[in-house]
Amino acid sequence: MFSSNPPLGLYIHLPWCEQKCPYCDFNSHQADVIPEQAYIEALLEDLEQELPLIWGRGIDSIFIGGGTPSLFSAAAIEQLFSGLRSLLNFAPAIEITMESNPGSADAENYRGYREAGVNRLSIGVQSFNDQNLKTLGRVHNGAQAAHAFAIARRAGFDNINLDLMFGLPAQSPAAASADLEQAIALGPEHLSLYQLTLEPNTLFHHQPPADMPDDDLCWEQQNACQALLAEHGYGQYEVSAYSLDKHECRHNLNYWHFGDYLGIGAGAHGKITLGGENRVLRRVRRRQPRAYLERVGPDRISSETTLDQDDLLFEFMLNALRLKHGFDTSLFRDNTGLSLNFLLPGLEQARDKGLVEFNGVKIVPTELGFCHLNDLQGLFLQPHNAKRRPFFESSGKITHN
Ligand SMILES: C[S@@+](CC[C@H](N)C(=O)[O-])C[C@H]1O[C@@H](n2cnc3c(N)ncnc32)[C@H](O)[C@@H]1O
Ligand code: SF4
Repeated sequence: MFSSNPPLGLYIHLPWCEQKCPYCDFNSHQADVIPEQAYIEALLEDLEQELPLIWGRGIDSIFIGGGTPSLFSAAAIEQLFSGLRSLLNFAPAIEITMESNPGSADAENYRGYREAGVNRLSIGVQSFNDQNLKTLGRVHNGAQAAHAFAIARRAGFDNINLDLMFGLPAQSPAAASADLEQAIALGPEHLSLYQLTLEPNTLFHHQPPADMPDDDLCWEQQNACQALLAEHGYGQYEVSAYSLDKHECRHNLNYWHFGDYLGIGAGAHGKITLGGENRVLRRVRRRQPRAYLERVGPDRISSETTLDQDDLLFEFMLNALRLKHGFDTSLFRDNTGLSLNFLLPGLEQARDKGLVEFNGVKIVPTELGFCHLNDLQGLFLQPHNAKRRPFFESSGKITHN
């Protein structure tokens, strides 16, 4: 049996960037001109066709990700929100996050986003060191990153995340800590700390930058950064996510809890439990912005799948094992509709290998399990399914969508 009233999120993908970063495998496309008006209209039309899936349910969180959503004008974001409000029932304490790149940070736009209803800003800083930013092909420098934070505060954002990366070319543990110290000095409520990964289908994968730190050095950097974060009151609650008390990202927590979410926009994924039909549906939108814009209605959807029991088990564990403090077994039952028995073979193996602790009520990855997350997650992948998933999300991978 599925939980009767699980939280519901909405992910909105805005797929354009000023310039493609050489390490990025997100669905992001370089553009000089963005068809703002047409895209906002397409998003709202797209959402309208999803409504029969969520009748009677309120929306608890919205995440506008990209690409670079801050390339959109405040007027376009206001138009988007007036449409969203007419179609959806926003929960009173809804969390609404928008991603922003310091290269397109603008005080007036930030005020407009805040007035439109955005109440959490996520700024893609990556580093405050200009040499690192140059190597990463970013369109901004360190001073612009600090300025973006300052204007966000002035615009009224009291809940801000900064994205930072470590494991950068030629970076020492001391340099990674110094970078993080600059971020902490600004006093954000949340920090996301990602190890630079050379993703397939990126320029960096084909032409790796010189002086990439080896695993031992990355490990040292991560330990130094984690000590610094703990010292300043940032608690780790997921592989890459750290926050001050009560400032965890609710939208992302819902993904890691294998909760429900709609996904609209080019390439967006949605996952919805249809309790009445006793199944979980995954829908994916067309990835290319032009194809997404040109199609209408159901033709914007590129694939629709009902998750089978093996998918439910694996996808739940892929997400939930990322949580530093683990999860209750009741979450598994509520969000997969499966009995605990499905979990037991993998769980027993994981416990025997020292990768999880399990007391019948709660499942928590051990330090060892957290360090070898891929191996731990792999124990819940059924052998006949492994062929379908030659790669699954690595432990450092970003899960904003
Ligand atoms: C969609 S981007 C965020 C917003 C905006 N597009 C930007 O880059 O400023 C999400 C975050 O993922 C991280 N990221 C992207 N590609 C990565 C990679 N290959 N390795 C590690 N982190 C990565 C970056 O920290 C980035 O800010
Ligand atoms: S990292 Fe961000 S700014 Fe860079 S290409 Fe990817 S989505 Fe765009």
